[in-house]
Amino acid sequence: MCGIVGYVGADRALPFLLEGLRSLEYRGYDSAGVALVEPDGIRVHKVAGRLDRLVEAVQDFDGTAACGIGHTRWATHGPPTDHNAHPHTDCTGRVAAVHNGIIENYRALKERLVARGHQFRSETDTEVIPHLLEEHLKTVPDLARAAQAAMRELEGAYAFLAVSADDPGTLVAVREASPLVIGVGTTSQYVASDLPALLPYTRRALVLDNGELAVVRPNGVTLYTRAGDPVEREPFLVTWTAEQASRGGYPHFMLKEIHEQPDAWADCLRGRIDGEGRLLLTELGLEPEDLAGVRLLQFVAAGTAYHAALIGAALVERLARIPTRVDVASEFRYRDPIWAPGTVVVAVSQSGETADTLASVRLAKGRGVPVWAVTNVVGSTLAREADRVLYTRAGPEVAVASTKAYTTQLLVLTLLAHALALAADRPTGTLLADLMGLPHAAASWLEGDHGIRTVAERIRSVPSLFYIGRGVDYALALEGQLKLKEISYIHAEAYPAGELKHGTLALIEAGVPVVAVVSGPSLLPKVHSNIQEVKARGAWVVGITTDRLAAELTDVLDVVVPVPARDERVMPALMALPLQLLAYETAVARGLDVDKPRNLAKSVTVE
Ligand code: M6R
Repeated sequence: MCGIVGYVGADRALPFLLEGLRSLEYRGYDSAGVALVEPDGIRVHKVAGRLDRLVEAVQDFDGTAACGIGHTRWATHGPPTDHNAHPHTDCTGRVAAVHNGIIENYRALKERLVARGHQFRSETDTEVIPHLLEEHLKTVPDLARAAQAAMRELEGAYAFLAVSADDPGTLVAVREASPLVIGVGTTSQYVASDLPALLPYTRRALVLDNGELAVVRPNGVTLYTRAGDPVEREPFLVTWTAEQASRGGYPHFMLKEIHEQPDAWADCLRGRIDGEGRLLLTELGLEPEDLAGVRLLQFVAAGTAYHAALIGAALVERLARIPTRVDVASEFRYRDPIWAPGTVVVAVSQSGETADTLASVRLAKGRGVPVWAVTNVVGSTLAREADRVLYTRAGPEVAVASTKAYTTQLLVLTLLAHALALAADRPTGTLLADLMGLPHAAASWLEGDHGIRTVAERIRSVPSLFYIGRGVDYALALEGQLKLKEISYIHAEAYPAGELKHGTLALIEAGVPVVAVVSGPSLLPKVHSNIQEVKARGAWVVGITTDRLAAELTDVLDVVVPVPARDERVMPALMALPLQLLAYETAVARGLDVDKPRNLAKSVTVE
């Protein structure tokens, strides 16, 4: 998500901070800022927008600070504005902090701090950090101990850096699940959320573990556990190039983003389900009676987001028994829809800037129809124009092919379906607990080798292939074929498995690859006979199915890629993983530019 940098040493801090932020730009951001510990106190410069604006803002600044922190923000709490940009300071302006991640309990902490007289100036969760430090500095002697005390109170996944005007040669770094690495020099030390920022300065690095705190001074770094015990760790030598490091060592952003999904899912669910397994979708700002008044959910979206909407709509109907319609936005905007009373439009868009989706939203709003948005980008046009917003919290997605944004859309839509079901008094059983188990299941699955590369080798030169499935598996098949088409340039078509015999079966002949998507047992006998139909005509069938169902399908499958079986209602996100990897490996096998496929843009802001 956000990019963090920090410097303390023998030179001026500002050049490193700006260069460091520049090399973290690939992570995506919407505002940037620095805090410098000058002899006369902390000076903060921060602006919404591109880093160039920050560079411009500091060009005439002639400070001498040899200690400072910097940040590129990817908004999660509060839109991208100057005042929400980091660093944030305490009431006195003598403590400053930058932060990456999410502070889950920031509301409770903020209330407590406000009650003690603290004044907040932003809408961010981050601002609780400098105020907490200020509060603790009333009773402990230094910033490090204040940070240690703050760690005990902060809940969530985060990393932060803090500096104090009262201790100008010290920078404190804390890691709790969000990455943080220290570049070790001789008379200067560098801190960043990712290696590329450090590599032009040093190749000796120390990675903080979760629950650790580092006290960084010009002549060295001391690590401590949460309990305050010192940690002995030697720096390691980084051999990656800066470019390799920006992709976290992965050859492509798409692969990196596929592997980021367990963390993205955890971030997406964080704070939305309480310790007793109850749903807290408070950001929707709607009471159960408002939700109970919904008569029709009209989904609008494009591309991958449309495929997520199809699955979301199916879940809403299944769980809440509320009728839904799902339209491709470019069609919806021109089809003169009938607006039934009680309709709510749900617009799904990773970027929140897709022209057709925005046009559909404006159409609805023009008719007085409420619009709820599901988007990944805080402060996007969609987020600003919708009446309610649910953020997917996938973090910036760099590859054109959407992966983690898609699966987090699936999770958010499942939460929405659950909220509507609760409002309609319809129990959902263990749905939330099953959702909570997904990040772990995905992480273990992604560690394994499931033979996908072998399948990719087999399909890399075929002219065409088919994806089939029934129900939500058809929607998954649609996503699988889109992913394959957009990055491997192989023609692929998704079909509802039961529909093949109405025409498309004529295209199936010996050796034609068919990817059969089967995520649950509900239509197993039906889908088994559909696969049998293609098998009998000589198709080469790859089954993407669960480890439990695989045995029931072996007679009709040539290859099985198994995923762990979970409740059918939460399977789509897990099933997406092999579909994404199959597209990725096929594109790699064909030697294509995976992250920037031809003719395509990440965000389609024109009609
Ligand atoms: O930003 P959006 O979610 O509105 O974008 C919609 C589509 O352009 C997008 O999902 C596209 O289909 C993906 N690049 C496919 O991977």
